[in-house]
Formats: sequence, C-alpha cells, structure tokens
Amino acid sequence: MPPVITTVDDLHALYRRRVPRMFYDYCQSGSWTEQTFRENETDFDLIRLRQRVAVDMEGRSVAGTMIGREVTMPVALAPVGLTGMQYADGEILAARAAEAFGVPFTLSTMSICSIEDVAEHTTKPFWFQLYVMKDEDFVDRLIERARAAGCDALVLTLDLQILGQRHKDLKNGLSAPPKLTPASIANLATKVRWGMGMARTKRRFFGNIVGHAKGVGDASSLSSWTAEQFDPRLDWDKIRRIKDKWGGKLILKGILDAEDARMALQVGADAIVVSNHGGRQLDGALSSIRMLPEIVDAVGDRVEVHMDGGIRSGQDVLKALALGAKGTYIGRAFVYGLGAMGQQGVTHALEVIRKELDTTMALCGEKDIHDLGPHNLLVPRGFRGDWEPAAPPR
Ligand code: GLV
Repeated sequence: MPPVITTVDDLHALYRRRVPRMFYDYCQSGSWTEQTFRENETDFDLIRLRQRVAVDMEGRSVAGTMIGREVTMPVALAPVGLTGMQYADGEILAARAAEAFGVPFTLSTMSICSIEDVAEHTTKPFWFQLYVMKDEDFVDRLIERARAAGCDALVLTLDLQILGQRHKDLKNGLSAPPKLTPASIANLATKVRWGMGMARTKRRFFGNIVGHAKGVGDASSLSSWTAEQFDPRLDWDKIRRIKDKWGGKLILKGILDAEDARMALQVGADAIVVSNHGGRQLDGALSSIRMLPEIVDAVGDRVEVHMDGGIRSGQDVLKALALGAKGTYIGRAFVYGLGAMGQQGVTHALEVIRKELDTTMALCGEKDIHDLGPHNLLVPRGFRGDWEPAAPPR
C-alpha cells in the first residue's frame, strides 16, 4: 500500500531514507551552529492563531497573484541548488509539478537540469535565479539564456557572494555527481531506487555551468565553484546593471534588513524576498518571519514583499501572509517531496500545504486570502521589538 501522506514531515521521513546522505545533509543543513536555520522554523511556532466562529465559510479562495502572475496559492518553489541530485531530473519534475498545480517554479543557477532543458520539458514560464559571478560575460549569457527560455522573472540572490560554511558538506565531500570514496560508496549502495534513477539520466552535472563557463576549476564542487567564481564585489551599482540588462520583472532575494529593503526599492525591484537563505548563510541572523513585519512596515506599500525560510506547512504560509507577505516560497518542503517520490511527492507537498492553508483560514474566520492580516494572529510581546541595532545604522 502506498504511504498515506498527511504532512510535509511524512515526506521528510521518506526522503531521509531514500536519498544519499550527502544530498540529504546538503538540504538539511544551516551554516555553523545552525541557530538561524532552526529558528526559521521554531519562530513560526511562537505565533498563534485567533479562532473565530459563526462565519459563513462557503466559497473560500486561497488564489492570488505574485508579481502580477496568477497563482492558485501564493507559494512559489524556491531556487534550490543540486535539486537534480535529490532525484533524477529533479528540476524538470519539480517544475512540472509546480506548473500543474499553478504556482511558480524558480530554477537555481546551480541546478543540475539546465535552463534550456527545463524550458523544453515544461509549457509555462518559470523564474530563473541568478548568482552574480566575476565573469560578466557568463552572467550576461545566463541572462540571455533565461530570456530565450521564456523565463518571466529574474530572482537575483544577494546574500551569497561567499558561501556560509555548512560543516557536513565539507565532511561529506559534497559534489555533483558524488565522488566515489569508501564512505560514499557504502552509503550509495543502500539507495537503490535513487541509483536506478541516476543510472537512467544523463543529467548529473551542473547543467547551467558545465560546457558554458570558461576556465572552471572543479565544476562538480559547489564550494570550489562559489569560492572561485562568485563575485565578492557585488553592490547596488552591479544590481542596477543586471536589472537594465534583464529588462523584465526583477525579484531581489536575501533582504533581511529594512535599510536594504529601502535600497531594493530605489533600484526598482518588483519584489523582494525577506530571506536568510534558509539559515545557510549568516548564522546568528534573525529568522525571516521575525524580520518580516519591520520590512513590510518600511516598504510594503511600495514593493511586493515575499518571504522564505522555515515554511513547512500551510499554517506557516498563513502566518507569513497575515504579517504582510504577498507571497511565500518553499525550498526544503518541496525537496522532501521530490526526494521521497519524485514529481508526485512535490505535488503532495503542495496539496498538503494548500489544504492546511485553506482549513486554517476558514477556522480563523476568513474566506479570502487577501483578507488575512495581523488581526488573525496572536503574537507574543516582543516578537519583533526586543531586538535593536547595538548602535544606529551607519
Ligand atoms: C546555495 O546554492 C546553497 O547551497 O545554499
């Protein structure tokens, strides 16, 4: 009998069993002590919901828009590096699940399936996430490739000019495809279903990079690639240059401070993503959900504010929307589904989240997702106000 999936956690449990340790650890890690990674999730639990009764619940809708695009719920799939190592052809499968469900899929620069490959195997535009690299020509070509593939938004990541250290990736020797060592062979040998999928596909390398970038050292290692190629001098002028070069909808991802949100506004972003990269970059930063209200207050009436980090349920989505986000992203939650059971698992994750969102909305006394607001929540005193800069911002 197929397993009964009722939560994203169920998918996580299956995922953990089915995927090689190296790729499970890659997904399930934060940087250094993992405090921010943990708090992205646990801070959601501090927020409670206001139960309301005797409200007509018929005709509910969780549909909305993200940067003008209609979505069946405001939950996009976040860019996740190496998704095609979690399950053979993973980016194509996740993009197909997203398109059938009616939510945006974001392809990472560090994907296994290339931009062209995903475009060829899907019918609706997806979003492309860009990392800025030292080689401007290569960046320009990536932008051109995304345009040619019909991508309808560029998601520019700002919080990863250098890579936050994730201890397990170093210890596991993370690479795509996996390097064969006695330890990795022993683990891979137990992942039969994963191995059969990988044996059937040719997509085992960083598809946007290999064969497209010049002078690449070790193109199988995310850490060497980022250390060698990512542009540590990325600044607002370069962001403007990329915006002009792209000319389409621009989403700036990795904003966690109101000052930076104001800068993003000046640059003319269509949306910002309040994000700490899933706790994978600056460990010790506050969780995304805790920072969201301040950023919404600073710029929320002038730019669409999205958020990611820690969303594992429809209740988390509702809390983010009620605190002012116009859109949310799931990263790990969809990877759990993908690693557990491919495209169907991603669909399960989306279905679970939609059901939780819809039922929670109803029991909070709301029928339309656009009516959610802080009035639906109970937030502990000091949830947003007990933190302040140790000195005024420079
Ligand atoms: C990005 O590619 C990451 O590993 O967080």
